[in-house]
Amino acid sequence: LVAGVDSSTQSCKVTIVDAGTGRTVRTGKAAHPDGTEVNPSHWWSALLEAADDAGGLGDVAAVAIAGQQHGLVLLDSGGRVLRDALLWNDTRSAEAAGALVAELGPVALARRCGSVPVASFTITKLRWVRENEPDIAARVAAVALPHDWLTWRLRGFGPAGESPLGPELEELSTDRSDASGTGYWQPAGGSYDLELFEVALGRPAREAGRTPGGQAAETVILPRVAAPSETVGTVAAGLLDGVPANAVKIGAGAGDNAAGALGLGAVRGDVVVSIGTSGTVFAVSDTPPNDPSGTVAGFADAAGAFLPIAVTLNAARVLSTTAALLGVDFGGLAELAMAAQPGSAGVVLVPWFEGERTPNLPHAQASLHGLSIASTTRENLARAAIEGMLCGLADGLDAVAATGVSAQRVLLIGGAAQNPAVQAVAAQVFGVPVAVPQPGEYVARGAAAQAAWLLSGERPQWPLAFAGEPVQDGRPEVRRQYGEYRRQAAGAANNAAPGGALPR
Ligand code: XUL
Repeated sequence: LVAGVDSSTQSCKVTIVDAGTGRTVRTGKAAHPDGTEVNPSHWWSALLEAADDAGGLGDVAAVAIAGQQHGLVLLDSGGRVLRDALLWNDTRSAEAAGALVAELGPVALARRCGSVPVASFTITKLRWVRENEPDIAARVAAVALPHDWLTWRLRGFGPAGESPLGPELEELSTDRSDASGTGYWQPAGGSYDLELFEVALGRPAREAGRTPGGQAAETVILPRVAAPSETVGTVAAGLLDGVPANAVKIGAGAGDNAAGALGLGAVRGDVVVSIGTSGTVFAVSDTPPNDPSGTVAGFADAAGAFLPIAVTLNAARVLSTTAALLGVDFGGLAELAMAAQPGSAGVVLVPWFEGERTPNLPHAQASLHGLSIASTTRENLARAAIEGMLCGLADGLDAVAATGVSAQRVLLIGGAAQNPAVQAVAAQVFGVPVAVPQPGEYVARGAAAQAAWLLSGERPQWPLAFAGEPVQDGRPEVRRQYGEYRRQAAGAANNAAPGGALPR
C-alpha cells in the first residue's frame, strides 16, 4: 500500500491506495483553519489527524505530500516558523508584484522563471515582507513551501524540542512542480534563479546541500529540488502510531495541480479544469510555456514535463456565496440554475468576489449586469453565478490552448464538479467535450501515485473511471455576453486600483 496526502487550503486529505491496482483502500480527512494567512502548525496537526482518520500508515510502504502552492513559510535558524504563512490567495503583495514586474520586465521574467509573477507567487510575498516586516526579513534562515515544510516535519525535522531530529535546514526538499510557483526557479532550465530571490528579499540564497558562498549566516537556504520519483527520506519514529523508524519512504511531493494531473493520469489532449477554492485550468505539455502576458503560468509538472496553467481566485466560493444569498444549498442552487435558460436572460455575474488573478485585477470586486424587472429572478441569478465562474475558466482554457497544447477533452474535477448544473454549463462554455471522472481526491491520489512510482521505479498506470460519456453542447452566446461585461468590469477595476492600472 501507498499513501498520498493533499494539504489544501481548507483541509488535509489522506488516501491509501493499493499500489498495484490503484484501488482506493482507505481515506481520512481533517479540517484546518483556512483564510489567506495561516500558522503552518495547523497543517501539521491536520496531517497527523487525517492519517489517523485513514487508519494510520502502519501498513504503508511509501507516502508523498502534495499541497497548496506558493505559500510562504519562513524559518529562522532554529527551524521555527517566523510568521504565519502568506498563502496563494493573499493579495497584499499585489503592489510588490507590480513593482517587481516593472523593475525586471514581463518578458525577462517569463523567460527566467516561466511566469510573470502575480500576488500569489512566493517571490512577491518575499518582497512584501522585506518592505513591511524588515525585522522578520533579517531573521529568515530558510524559505519553504507548504508541502516542503510538511515533508521536512514528517521526516522528523523541526524546531528543537518539538521534533525528533531538530532544525536541520539543509534537509529541506521540494520538487520541480511546486518550485515553479516560487517565481525564483526556472522550469525550462531546472534550476533556481538566485538573483531573482535576492532582488525580492534583499538577501543572498543558495540551494540546500550546496556549499555556502560569501557570508554563510547571511545566506538563505532554499529547499533542494528532488527528482520526481526520488526517495527524499523516511517517516521519523514516534510521529505516527505503528510506524517505526525507516519503515515508510517519503517522496518529493508536488504542488496540488501537478499532483492532480498525476492522479488523473492526464495524457496529451486532456485539459484539466479543477473547481476548488481556486479554479485551475492546466494541461501536460512537452515544451516549457513562456507567456509574457502573464495569463498562463509556465509550471513544471511532477513527472518531467511541463504544466501550463491559468488560475482564477474565484471558483467554488462563487457558488457557495450565491447559494447562501439565495438561501439554498449546493443542490438547491443547481435546481434553480437548471430552471433558467442558457444566458440567464441576459443576467451576467462577473465573479471577482476575492479580487482576481486571471485577469490580474487583485483589487476587483464582483458585479452583476443586465438586470431588468423581468430578468431578475432567483433562477437567473443562480445560473449567472455558474456561467460567470465557468466563463472565467473558459478564458483560461483558451489561454492555455494558445500556448500550443491540444485541447481535445476537459476533465472536470474538484469539489463543484459533481454539481449537475456546473456540468451542464461546462459543456456549453468550454467548446470541447467535458468528461467528469468519478468523485475522488485526485490530488491525494496523485501523491499516492508518486509514492508508488518511487517503490517500483515505474510510473503507475492506474485506470480512470468516469461518471458518464463526455458531453459538448456549445452555446457561444453565453461567453460572448460574459465577455462584454467582463471588459467593462475590468476597466472599472483598473481605474479603481490604488495607483491606477497595475503594470504587467
Ligand atoms: C496555483 C494556485 C492554486 C493553489 C491552491 O497556482 O495558486 O491552485 O495551488 O490550491
